[in-house]
Amino acid sequence: MLSASTSAALGPSPHEHAPQLLAANFLNLLILDDDRAVREASRQVAHSLGFSTHVAESAEQAYRLLDASNIDAVLLELRLPGTSGLEALQTIKRHRPDAAVVVLTGYGTVQSAVQAMKNGAYEYVTKPFSLEELRRLLERVAEHLRVKTESRLRREMARSRQGFGNIVGHAPEMEKLYRIIAKTALSYHPVLILGESGTGKEMVARAIHSSGSLRNKPFIPVDCGSLVPTLIESELFGHVRGAFTGANTAKDGLLAIADGGTVFLDEIGELPTDLQAKLLRAIQEKEIRPVGSVKQVPINVRILGATNRDLEQAVAEGTFRRDLYFRLNVLTLRIPPLRERKQDIPLLVAHFLERIGRDSGREKTISDEGLKALMNFDWPGNVRELENSLERACAISSADEIQLRDLPTYLSSAPGAALERPANGIIPMAELEKQSILSALGQVNGDKMLAARLLGIGKTTLYRKLKEYESQQ
Ligand SMILES: Nc1ncnc2c1ncn2[C@@H]1O[C@H](COP(=O)(O)OP(=O)(O)OP(=O)(O)O)[C@@H](O)[C@H]1O
Ligand SMILES: [Mg+2]
Repeated sequence: MLSASTSAALGPSPHEHAPQLLAANFLNLLILDDDRAVREASRQVAHSLGFSTHVAESAEQAYRLLDASNIDAVLLELRLPGTSGLEALQTIKRHRPDAAVVVLTGYGTVQSAVQAMKNGAYEYVTKPFSLEELRRLLERVAEHLRVKTESRLRREMARSRQGFGNIVGHAPEMEKLYRIIAKTALSYHPVLILGESGTGKEMVARAIHSSGSLRNKPFIPVDCGSLVPTLIESELFGHVRGAFTGANTAKDGLLAIADGGTVFLDEIGELPTDLQAKLLRAIQEKEIRPVGSVKQVPINVRILGATNRDLEQAVAEGTFRRDLYFRLNVLTLRIPPLRERKQDIPLLVAHFLERIGRDSGREKTISDEGLKALMNFDWPGNVRELENSLERACAISSADEIQLRDLPTYLSSAPGAALERPANGIIPMAELEKQSILSALGQVNGDKMLAARLLGIGKTTLYRKLKEYESQQ
């Protein structure tokens, strides 16, 4: 039993018996009690559940901590020297309206504990209490906060959707990006969107289009990186009948078809130099000449370009025209890589789990440990890679909650990961096969038929392997 006057036996240190799965990761608990024994015991129990703890012996000290740290929950002794506990509760609630405050009280003061509940305390507990009681109570607090955070994330997600298409994220760099998108959406100038692979360049392009006055006109993406040069030319500018072998009929160029809409030139850095000149003229003169034609066709189109290449360097190396670069570079948007806005990861995870859940009819959650691993990773493939990892995890796990082991092994430094890459550096064939299957599934967004085809194995073999992996967990 733990009371205001006894110092309880505490058992093994939290580090010795810390559970793998900590319910309260990322949560900050403030313990305000003038009894050192209570503070210490509560701190150890809270630590073992994964809380980060702050301790204060007086209300003043607690208020300073409330200002300085992001406190999620408070253990508050109602009988404090110099202040009434109820007053302290009021001040805490003013500083942190969302904090879950648990009041600790002796037998004589149950009445004020009840009053504290009316004033917004989450729960009260009477001293003396056992460590086990405290543990269960803190677990409930963690669960309560998790549910509250989840619903807040959902609200934030809904807000970010309303803003710009489906772009999720509230990191300061993203908020800045939204403001620039809002401004660019109102103009007709070309925009250059820069960002590493998978950062959401196409999403941003669509957001610019759909927030502007051209939203009811077509949005036409053209991948300059994957088409052969002659094909890009005829796609963009069109051709007359007989312009080249196979041109049996005349075809309008996409720049003309867009007719008041937007053409999104993805991987614009890959555009061959002669087409760069043609594009520059199209932008400047607002007309194009189809392949094989002598006549100019007027166009009315907004150009958005995107690249993950360093265009300035391409200009310096002579592979990208300086004049086109300047023309495109009037408005430039730079999307930050995911590793520079890790605070958006929980939001993105919630968004993708909801989307995958909608598609599959079964929404899954993720364990704190799994989320922590996602947040610790640097994501070279950015949001696309994060999305693929979650798709894959949902496809292979049959449980409602995704665990660390369902995520790519390179994310975890968990004990299991060491087994998969032994000290001698030799990876067993079975492990390689598993990685290959899981990564294929991730790439095709969990489409098992397609994955089996790409892997060159039968559908039944794939299902059997996935069953095996599940039973290994
Ligand atoms: N901020 C975001 N919010 C929600 N989803 C996002 C976000 N950023 C990217 N995505 C998702 O990640 C995937 C990749 O996005 P997108 O295709 O726009 O990136 P990209 O920069 O064009 O990638 P690439 O360079 O590979 O072409 C898409 O499925 C998109 O829906
Ligand atoms: Mg793209």
